[in-house]
Amino acid sequence: MELSGARALVVGASGVLGSGIARALVERGATVSVAGRDAGRLAPVAQACGTEPLVLDLVDTDACREVVGAAAAAMGGLDLLVVATGVAGFGPATDADPAVVEELFAVNTLGPMALVRAAAGRFEDGGTVAVLSAILAELPTNQMAEYSATKAALSTWLTVLRRENRRAFTVLDVRPPHLDTGLAERSLAGEPPKLPAPLPGQVVVDTVVEALASGATEVVWDAGAKELVAR
Ligand SMILES: NC(=O)c1ccc[n+]([C@@H]2O[C@H](COP(=O)([O-])OP(=O)(O)OC[C@H]3O[C@@H](n4cnc5c(N)ncnc54)[C@H](OP(=O)(O)O)[C@@H]3O)[C@@H](O)[C@H]2O)c1
Repeated sequence: MELSGARALVVGASGVLGSGIARALVERGATVSVAGRDAGRLAPVAQACGTEPLVLDLVDTDACREVVGAAAAAMGGLDLLVVATGVAGFGPATDADPAVVEELFAVNTLGPMALVRAAAGRFEDGGTVAVLSAILAELPTNQMAEYSATKAALSTWLTVLRRENRRAFTVLDVRPPHLDTGLAERSLAGEPPKLPAPLPGQVVVDTVVEALASGATEVVWDAGAKELVAR
């Protein structure tokens, strides 16, 4: 897609990847609305993007729809939705707290799906949705059963969404490996298992922006080449 002049909403812009993507889109000439949960973390990103912050909790699917509507109204339409929200949870599958499991699925799966549904109805001339799932969607990992399952469900949903809408809009599924953004330290429960050396989050930001510009449908870790690739 042409990024210059595109009207983009970045949800999760209070986070490390979301704020990086929002700022990078502004640098490429896009008009960017930003949404997140923590108003304090969101404020500097909104200021850098020259927009009013939109605050929401993804657990509230009505709020997801309203935020997309508010962003489209502010920008006079919508061409791109980026969903960079997410939370982790750790521990053995048999020990998981049901309330934590519900929140993981609400934030990582159901909220992003609600945002995408709301955006899909607003694209006038094509459009793109870019959603952060994770490598765990393909490589479920011990001590991360629920987190892996939320990402697998999201990624599967994106695959069908892409097939059903291939003539209407582009669906970009971003499945990075472990990153240096500190997500694991903000987990809802448990301690992370030993994880591989993290990839810099900036690599994901740069690859996502290039993927958007080129119309790629996946950003994935190439284990042989040991690099993140857009394809
Ligand atoms: N970091 C990694 O190792 C890694 C690897 C693969 C995939 N990913 C995925 O990349 C995405 C971005 O993660 P990140 O590394 O940039 O972590 P991050 O800095 O912690 O960002 C997470 C974002 O999710 C938002 N969020 C969490 N719960 C929310 C809720 N209930 N309602 C609204 N927003 C909520 C946070 O909002 P507030 O800060 O405003 O609360 C924040 O903007 C996530 O989907 C993550 O699963 C990360």
